Amino acid sequence: MGHVLILGGTSEIGGEVAARLANHNVVTLAARRIDALDEVAQRMTDAGATAVHRLYFDADDIESHAGVLEEAWAIAPVDTAVIAFGILGNQDECERSGVAVAKVIHTDFTAHAAIATELVVRMEESTANGDLPVRDGVSGRILAFSSIAGARVRRPNYVYGSAKAGVDGFLQGMQDRLHGSSIQLTIARPGFVIGKMTEGMDPAPMSSTPDVVAEAAVTALDGGKPHVWIPGRLSALATATTFVPRGIWRRMPR
Ligand SMILES: NC(=O)c1ccc[n+]([C@@H]2O[C@H](COP(=O)([O-])OP(=O)(O)OC[C@H]3O[C@@H](n4cnc5c(N)ncnc54)[C@H](OP(=O)(O)O)[C@@H]3O)[C@@H](O)[C@H]2O)c1
Repeated sequence: MGHVLILGGTSEIGGEVAARLANHNVVTLAARRIDALDEVAQRMTDAGATAVHRLYFDADDIESHAGVLEEAWAIAPVDTAVIAFGILGNQDECERSGVAVAKVIHTDFTAHAAIATELVVRMEESTANGDLPVRDGVSGRILAFSSIAGARVRRPNYVYGSAKAGVDGFLQGMQDRLHGSSIQLTIARPGFVIGKMTEGMDPAPMSSTPDVVAEAAVTALDGGKPHVWIPGRLSALATATTFVPRGIWRRMPR
């Protein structure tokens, strides 16, 4: 039995991921709208969770991160953490307001980097003192979400895209730091996902859905993979974008 912590418990993708990890595990849903967690909590129970807990978590309040993890660890040491929060932001508004830009970058980059750091520190401590046993070379696992938007930043969503590019780089550096340790960090890079975050937008090519994203992400996590593109063929597309001349790239649609 393990302890799965979902940071961003109301996230559509996070809920799908949690349902796939819940069986025989304790699940803690951390979210800023804890009163909106009834449905997802019930889903965890239906999926076989042995217990479901809720914690208040505002990712933007960086100072609170250590305390939230303390509360989660007080339930039981967390062996699997999913960083599922995020905002798309409003690109038009961001082009007119530095405050709006800072908000997107704060949530999608700074808060991600901060909570990932706190998670690693706690998992390392719990591994060292034996609270998290090492099984098949792994004691703790973290799943974090980047995006195709960060692969090569595009003009129509360069604020969200640059935050994702930043967090992706941060997470890759962290993976290098963790190399050879028993803490595993998996980066999921979905393309356009038809769901709550993209409501009202026309689906981009190679779109997927939250359940497809979750299935691929959990398969990568369980397989010990460093990263996964969703769908897989986005990997070739991401490489190809680096060869597109700037004058053409500048005119790329969202
Ligand atoms: N959807 C896509 O097209 C897509 C594509 C690529 C990558 N991704 C990434 O995948 C991850 C999950 O996205 P999703 O599709 O599941 O999005 P979603 O359904 O819109 O969920 C985003 C979640 O983030 C939470 N959140 C935002 N700011 C927060 C804060 N300050 N503190 C705590 N929670 C906060 C929201 O909570 P509230 O309920 O309180 O608002 C919401 O539960 C994100 O990192 C996203 O960038 C998404």
